[in-house]
Amino acid sequence: MNRRRRIYEGKAKILYEGPEPGTLIQHFKDDATAFNNQKHALIEGKGVLNNRISEYMFTNLEAIGIPTHFIRRLNMREQLVRSVEIVPVEVVVRNVAAGSICKRLGLEEGTPLPRSIIEFYYKADELNDPMVTEEHITAFGWATPQEIDDMISMTQRVNDFLSGLFLGVGIRLVDFKLEFGRQYDNDMVRLIVADEISPDGCRLWDIQSQEKLDKDRFRRDLGDLIEAYQEVARRLGILVENEQGKHQGPILVRSS
Ligand SMILES: Nc1ncnc2c1ncn2[C@@H]1O[C@H](COP(=O)(O)OP(=O)(O)OP(=O)(O)O)[C@@H](O)[C@H]1O
Ligand SMILES: [Mg+2]
Repeated sequence: MNRRRRIYEGKAKILYEGPEPGTLIQHFKDDATAFNNQKHALIEGKGVLNNRISEYMFTNLEAIGIPTHFIRRLNMREQLVRSVEIVPVEVVVRNVAAGSICKRLGLEEGTPLPRSIIEFYYKADELNDPMVTEEHITAFGWATPQEIDDMISMTQRVNDFLSGLFLGVGIRLVDFKLEFGRQYDNDMVRLIVADEISPDGCRLWDIQSQEKLDKDRFRRDLGDLIEAYQEVARRLGILVENEQGKHQGPILVRSS
């Protein structure tokens, strides 16, 4: 039995109290949900893959100087993170049109956008996470203008870095979502990247075949979700099938 104190259980993860003050344990479940929980399934192995993929992303972001909540991976499904006060705004970056922007603006899926576009969504399940502007965010005090600037500049850096990282393994980063949190340190506060970066919150298309390697496989009943996530992990050089193995590093895929 688990005697740790459970702080929060969401759709995809559970947060437990961490071993030291200011830390939390983030546990990745196998639950897959879409359309604000209207569609739900257990996909065996998803949590293990997302724990690994998110670890890989956050470790790489730290390496280029982007602060994140990630401290270290604890086991197959859990990682130790810094406890933060989550900014109740999801930051989405889009490089190629897909998902809700297609409906909203009448774009065909796959249309390259003239430049990367950042959007904000208010984190409120009961409202279906509505899109909001900077005006709403500052008027309602969800974040300050300075925090919005910081989120935008960090998001652009993450996007540039991850786009390149995925391109190197033959994957187009179509769009993704970030969450930020406030880390308090005495009388200082700074924003760091929190939550997770995994195929649950990204759109990833194979550059050659255009095949979807992300949660759209679940949303659209395309099947083989785990195989797709495994393929992402395999190309990034993250071994999951064979735990004894060593990290190989990214698998270079030549794009034509
Ligand atoms: N470092 C952190 N400190 C505190 N909370 C965090 C941290 N990282 C992520 N969270 C929050 O923990 C929860 C993770 O659980 P999960 O992703 O399953 O939630 P969810 O069902 O998507 O719900 P939500 O709408 O709140 O995101 C999220 O609410 C996320 O904002
Ligand atoms: Mg979530």
